[in-house]
Amino acid sequence: MKRACLGLMAMAVVATNVLPSVSKAAESQPNKEASPIYGVTIPDGYRKWQFIAPAEEAAPLDELRAVVGNDIAVRAYENKTLPFPDGSILVKLAWKRVQSSEFEPASVPGVPTTVQVMVKDSKKYPDSHGWGFGRFIDGKPVDEAQHQTCLPCHEARVQNHDYVFTRYAP
Ligand code: HEC
Repeated sequence: MKRACLGLMAMAVVATNVLPSVSKAAESQPNKEASPIYGVTIPDGYRKWQFIAPAEEAAPLDELRAVVGNDIAVRAYENKTLPFPDGSILVKLAWKRVQSSEFEPASVPGVPTTVQVMVKDSKKYPDSHGWGFGRFIDGKPVDEAQHQTCLPCHEARVQNHDYVFTRYAP
């Protein structure tokens, strides 16, 4: 008991000593480049987010894709509640589809092509149904013209699902 208490105190001391330097390090990181029109950046840690569903697109793009979401978005999927609440973030990863060299019938991810992001913030994005969009190649946002295409396509086709295509794959 005594040892546990001491241990906790030690952890508390370490935490108070460590925290300020961690946040300083985060501050000193160069600003990540934001998408035109929306100012969306690639969210930290998205590669470890929960998997929602795969997708693929035929030639000429020939891509394999995976959509992942942060906890807020995943909870909305689980509870089947729409619209997605503010704070929801969905990320679509995409790779060139290549034939497996180890087993011909299989397709596997080749080079990464794009990372695409949708962020729900109804105050910041009142003109796009609360969604901000970002498309990134090699970590850099693509141009404004490409960002003008996001909303019309999502708006035209998935209005009945809060402008999100991806459904949760069981
Ligand atoms: C011509 C139609 C079209 C355009 C333009 C488009 N998307 Fe999508 N988007 C899709 C489809 C279809 C999906 C479903 C997954 C798939 O098939 O790849 C999708 C999925 C997504 C997803 C995952 C969430 C969801 O809705 O399923 C994100 C994030 C996304 N798109 C971002 C963008 C961004 C950012 C842009 C603009 C730079 C954009 N999209 C432009 C059709 C489009």
